[in-house]
Amino acid sequence: MNEEKGIVKENKNIGANYYLMEIKTESIAENSKPGNFVMIGINNNYDPLLKRPFGIYDVKSNSIYIYYEVVGKGTKILSEKRSGDNLDLIGPLGNGFPELKDKKILMIAGGMGIAPIYYGIKNYIHNNHVSLVYGARAKENLNLVFELEKLNLKSIFLYTDNGSLGIKGYVSSDLKKIISENDIDITISCGPEKMFESLNAVLKDENTKNYVSMEARMGCGIGVCHSCVVETVSDGYKKVCSDGPVFDMGDMKW
Ligand SMILES: Cc1cc2nc3c(=O)[nH]c(=O)nc-3n(C[C@H](O)[C@H](O)[C@H](O)COP(=O)(O)OP(=O)(O)OC[C@H]3O[C@@H](n4cnc5c(N)ncnc54)[C@H](O)[C@@H]3O)c2cc1C
Ligand code: FES
Repeated sequence: MNEEKGIVKENKNIGANYYLMEIKTESIAENSKPGNFVMIGINNNYDPLLKRPFGIYDVKSNSIYIYYEVVGKGTKILSEKRSGDNLDLIGPLGNGFPELKDKKILMIAGGMGIAPIYYGIKNYIHNNHVSLVYGARAKENLNLVFELEKLNLKSIFLYTDNGSLGIKGYVSSDLKKIISENDIDITISCGPEKMFESLNAVLKDENTKNYVSMEARMGCGIGVCHSCVVETVSDGYKKVCSDGPVFDMGDMKW
């Protein structure tokens, strides 16, 4: 984990309130692995005061990429950053996704959950069979599909709540069938908490090993403030930032 100044190389609007930002860093890019995240200081004037957490969407040479949605003050200011602007960064943070080889993996992403999932796919694809279930509210919220289609995925299953792209339904709708037809060993999911509850309701009866990348409101991102705790079955409260964000789905109290 390092504190570092990053330099914005590009901050591209990719539809509606969604942005893809390239940030040039030295050691964070070099040390990142899929499932890690970074804390980003939005402004040099400490307003907003707290850094904001973002999953690492991709790493190329000495840049990291984040994919984000404008939802409040911090992300609005972030969306106004231009090439050459500085950002205070802490990272890479979190335990990251497990190392896997020769597995049949189903990656499951809901909405912005695609950010770390994309980087995970790029890594797993070399040594595993990887399929993806990706869902969002509507077509305009699934705007990375063209990038995903370039990856060598075994299958992609798209879902929208209103049926405007892919199948009308939720990422959990056909999960049993997809797992059995693709002989899945491992699932890795990232998305909103409500999605995890419905995934867990299906996955708890499957023979798959299931990992989940959790989100929580974060104060510090480095295990100090306890604002991000979640409850586990086996070991009480855990911090999403430093014990996670990736946990065994079956060990979480939903
Ligand atoms: C480990 C981790 C990885 C993340 N990765 C991404 C990512 O790749 N892309 C992305 O767009 N967002 C990601 N987020 C969520 C992102 O951190 C928040 O959207 C951001 O902090 C909001 O800041 P803001 O100042 O714009 O919003 P605020 O003004 O602070 O809040 C605006 C709204 O967003 C909600 N919100 C804020 N933070 C969170 C949070 N952590 N979880 C759920 N809801 C929140 C608030 O409840 C409120 O309704 C991640 C969060 C975590 C914990
Ligand atoms: S965000 Fe401070 S302990 Fe996790």
